[in-house]
Order: sequence, then structure tokens, then C-alpha cells
Amino acid sequence: MKTKILNNEVSSPEGSNQEAGRSSGTEGKMPPEESLFASDKTSKEEPFKCELPRSSRPDSGAGEETLQKGPPVIEVIDVKKSYTLGDMEVPILSDINLTVREGEFLAIMGPSGSGKSTLMNLIGFLDRPTEGKIMIKGLDINTLSDKEVAKLRGLEIGFMFQTFNLIPRLTALENVELPTYANTREGVDTRKRAKELLRMVGLEDRMHHKPGELSGGQAQRVAIARALINDPAILLADEPTGNLDSRTGCEILGMFTRLNEDGRTIVMITHDPDIAKYADRIVLVKDGMIQNNSE
Ligand SMILES: Nc1ncnc2c1ncn2[C@@H]1O[C@H](COP(=O)(O)OP(=O)(O)OP(=O)(O)O)[C@@H](O)[C@H]1O
Ligand SMILES: [Mg+2]
Repeated sequence: MKTKILNNEVSSPEGSNQEAGRSSGTEGKMPPEESLFASDKTSKEEPFKCELPRSSRPDSGAGEETLQKGPPVIEVIDVKKSYTLGDMEVPILSDINLTVREGEFLAIMGPSGSGKSTLMNLIGFLDRPTEGKIMIKGLDINTLSDKEVAKLRGLEIGFMFQTFNLIPRLTALENVELPTYANTREGVDTRKRAKELLRMVGLEDRMHHKPGELSGGQAQRVAIARALINDPAILLADEPTGNLDSRTGCEILGMFTRLNEDGRTIVMITHDPDIAKYADRIVLVKDGMIQNNSE
């Protein structure tokens, strides 16, 4: 899958650039950074309201039946997860069944401690279920070698962590490039792509800064660029807007909707209903279970 970089990302949430937003793709070209991230511009007059153009959003009146659904890319089947603390088994997730289809944008909501990050870690192969199985693109990880799992995770899944997880001693550029040290697509100039991605998220002038020299929003953008470095088909984002002001959060969300319109499958955890409404579907995790399990 190619990262399609568009010229009119989310710079004017107040404006109605819906038509332009859907038609002016220039694949491979990077937009002027102010067109993607305008977070330094703060309005003192009115509280910021995030309004993104997207024809398939619920607000635009498109029903679920109009959403295009592809084959399943993520299947969580009868999954249970518990941790052992001393002699005690502490159940965290139980009876989790979830199918996410290609090109879907799914939001996961639920109270703190309900198991959202645990579920996302399982989907991203960062942890293993106690029972049940996870399939990615039809492949059951239990049947794959460690090398195959690492390759699948490295190339097909972009992961944005709740706490960014940038390496403090590496620059923004090195952090973005880091996943390519383990896995990379053939024929890709990773340094060039890392620079392009940083430019895309408006951080061209911060490439050589270390995470400690970046604001929270800037660090989050580095994490987005890093998640996209191997051009993954699936983007998993754990509270990508949780630490950001509303304007920057809206810009990040605008980027997600654009990536989703390019065909990426996105699973995003959020506490914010105003953010979740931009997803195709919302699942609610409560007490370690999915409360509204319907596709
Ligand atoms: N490694 C671990 N060992 C033991 N318990 C854990 C471990 N990781 C998570 N937990 C517990 O699992 C539960 C679910 O945690 P999780 O991080 O999935 O919640 P969450 O829904 O993402 O919460 P938040 O919204 O605050 O991020 C919590 O009670 C947490 O203490
Ligand atoms: Mg969490």
C-alpha cells in the first residue's frame, strides 16, 4: 500500500473543503507542512471545534450499509487474557470476539482499566492471549514462526502507543527510521521516506531534535510518522489524541481519516466521543468484555 500524501489535509477544519479533500490526491508528493498541521495557530476567540470533512461520517447521514467492507484483516476469536500476580490469576479480558474488515476505521472506547490497551497489544502481537487466537490477514500467529510474526508485525502493522514510546537518545528522524532496522520493504530508501513522513507531519525543522526537545503534539506526530514508515496496511493507535490540545488532536484525526480513505484499516482507542464519531464503528470495552459486539 502506498502512502498517498494529499495537499489539503486538515488545515481548515472550519472550511468546507470536502470536494477538494476527496479528489486532489498527488501520490508521492509531500504537502506544504502548514497544510497538514496548523497547531501553532491558536484562536483566542471561540473554543475550537473539530469539524472534518468526510462523506461517510455519521454526521453526513451516510448509514452503515453504505460503508464499503472488505475481507477481514483482524480477527480476534474467543480471546481471553489474564495476568498472573503471585499465585493469583487476574482476568483482564474474556470472551473477546472481534472482526475488523479491510478499510474499516474502528474506534474502541471504554473506561480506564477496562482492557483497551491490553486488547490492542494482543492485536499488534505485542502480547499473546492466554486463550483464543488472533488472525491478521487470515494468518494465525500461533502457526507462524517468530521470524514470520516479526515480519508481519513490522511490515503490516503500524503501532502508535499511548505513551509514544520514542527512544530518548535518538533524534526524531532516527526514531522514525527505527522500525526499518528490523524489517523493511525492498527498494525503499528508508532515510528519504522518514524525512518525507516527518515533512508530511509538519516536523521538517525538528528532524534532528530528540524527543525531550519536542512538545507533546510534536512527539505524537513523530510517533505517527514512525508507525507509517513501513507503509503498513493496519494502523493501531492507542489514544492518539489523548495528550494533545483539541486543535492538534483534530489535525491528527484528519490525518487518520485521510489514511483510512487511502485504504488503511485503522483501529483507534479513544476516550473522546467527538473523536470516536469519525470512525465507521465504535466498540465499547467494559470490565474486560466487548459490550456491543456487532459488525
Ligand atoms: N502487565 C500487566 N500485569 C498485570 N496487570 C496488568 C498488566 N497490564 C495491564 N494490567 C491490568 O489490566 C487492566 C487493563 O489495563 P489496560 O491498560 O488494558 O486498560 P485501558 O482500558 O487501556 O485503560 P486506560 O484507558 O487507562 O489506558 C488494568 O487493571 C491493568 O492494571
Ligand atoms: Mg490504555
